[in-house]
Amino acid sequence: MRRKLAAGNWKMNGLSAQLAEIDALRTAHPDPSVDLVIAPPATLISAMVVSAADHPLQVAGQDCHASESGPHTGDISAPMLKDAGASHVILGHSERRTDHGEDDEDVRAKARAALAADLKVIICIGESLEEREAANTLEIIAGQLAGSLPDILTAENTVIAYEPIWAIGTGKIPTLDQIGEVHDYIRSKLEARYGAGVGRGIRILYGGSVKPSNADDIFAVSNVDGALVGGASLKAADFSGIITAL
Ligand code: G3H
Repeated sequence: MRRKLAAGNWKMNGLSAQLAEIDALRTAHPDPSVDLVIAPPATLISAMVVSAADHPLQVAGQDCHASESGPHTGDISAPMLKDAGASHVILGHSERRTDHGEDDEDVRAKARAALAADLKVIICIGESLEEREAANTLEIIAGQLAGSLPDILTAENTVIAYEPIWAIGTGKIPTLDQIGEVHDYIRSKLEARYGAGVGRGIRILYGGSVKPSNADDIFAVSNVDGALVGGASLKAADFSGIITAL
């Protein structure tokens, strides 16, 4: 049985005052029966780890470099995230792929580095609107899965986030049938590559305009094991509404 997971991605949002939302989340969910992860900007990781010390909330990075250390100004390595108290790292988010030209090979190298540093990875995949309209979604998903995932992983250390790019921050979501089709397809691909045991154990999150008002319907779709939430994770009240729906 896969445990449900609610992951929040604060993206490039949040100064220290934003950590008050963690206190609010603690009040709203003192003993959540689901896994909770939030990826703040790197500047808040250590402080969030302290804020969440008496709470099951786990803290994630939003990216890491593929190398352990070296001359890469502005980058953060997987061991550095681990050292700061992070347990997870989001990799291959479409905003990284677009803003920084990351491709599947980069994501796979980062995933290897993160797993080697004992971080859990949340690997993002998803099609553009043009790819969806050209009926290429499953082909794109297959290519991203094949290219972005390392050959060696476990159900415990890896999570897949399906995020249609056109649904991110737009208020638009695919139909529930479309979400189910992609999640079922991802599950079949994971089972084929990693075997039934691992393939059935990896959690698959949906991401893209998840809100308290649509979370119930999305979480009822087959093979949806939770959500990767952007905007609605910034306010504890909204994120709590999503957690409650899981
Ligand atoms: O990482 C989160 C996703 O990009 C979804 O963002 O919930 O603001 O649409 P959103």
